Amino acid sequence: MTLHNAGENLAHEGPNAEQIEYWNGDAGSRWARYQDKLDGLLQPFSDAMLRIAAVKPGDRTIDVGCGCGATTLELAARAGAGGKTLGVDISAPMIARARQRAEEMKSPAEFMLADASSHPFAPASFDLLASRFGIMFFLEPVPAFAHMRKALAPGGRVAFACWRPMKENPWIAAPLFAALPHIPKQEPAIPGAPGPFAFDDRDRLHGVLTKAGYSAVEIEPFDAPLSVGTGADPVADALQQTLDIGPLARIFRELNDEQRRLSTAAVREALARHVADGRVVMGGAVWLVTARA
Ligand SMILES: C[S@@+](CC[C@H](N)C(=O)[O-])C[C@H]1O[C@@H](n2cnc3c(N)ncnc32)[C@H](O)[C@@H]1O
Repeated sequence: MTLHNAGENLAHEGPNAEQIEYWNGDAGSRWARYQDKLDGLLQPFSDAMLRIAAVKPGDRTIDVGCGCGATTLELAARAGAGGKTLGVDISAPMIARARQRAEEMKSPAEFMLADASSHPFAPASFDLLASRFGIMFFLEPVPAFAHMRKALAPGGRVAFACWRPMKENPWIAAPLFAALPHIPKQEPAIPGAPGPFAFDDRDRLHGVLTKAGYSAVEIEPFDAPLSVGTGADPVADALQQTLDIGPLARIFRELNDEQRRLSTAAVREALARHVADGRVVMGGAVWLVTARA
């Protein structure tokens, strides 16, 4: 089933062209397919982000990199009929899934396919920039955040969640490290490059927001246990998700049959060590970030 409207596409151009291509390809379709499961998995971080966002009735919010809209729908419910909540994302399949959910839930949330780092938002027309893991993919983060700041009214606020370093996130690190002996040597990630861990360094993140003109920047750690695998066979469930979404999924696509067989077995074993009360439970660690325009 194709979810997005025929003809609705974002040009693959500008500094974020590579990300636009990535999130409109396989990755975007897989996120849309896994929406239900990912929203369950990431709910502790939605709740934490919504707590620091402290949305008031009537608030006007941009949900940056809203994906399939889970947080946008929750932000819209809190802002009420007098508010406005706009989810912005570069991924056509994910925006289509978000719109479908808003329609099903009769939510006032609106969704726009656009690059948040360059879309010409009306100046000073929003009270809050919010995001759950949608702000780590800008090639040029300082100009991106400076651009989005112009959309905020005086006194406007920022509230988002982004990942702390991989080694503090066993739900990602443990399967990846288990697979390492069986896969080709991986290039070390470039610190700060667009990707899930672009803002894992607190000082760098603080610097990006300060250079982009924000004040009162506060960055606090928050940890939560994540239900990575559930159901009748929680290890199989966790394994499938780990190999379909996230850093290992990208690597697995490049492997030969033998590498895939050996690394699948190793990842399965790593996940099986974390079964508790009929679920695979592993730790996740984020920064909760607030600032003022
Ligand atoms: C890790 S996903 C998170 C999605 C969603 N916020 C969630 O928590 O389920 C990152 C999202 O950021 C979006 N994204 C990346 N760069 C973007 C940009 N420049 N403007 C808008 N969205 C962007 C991607 O398309 C993707 O949907």
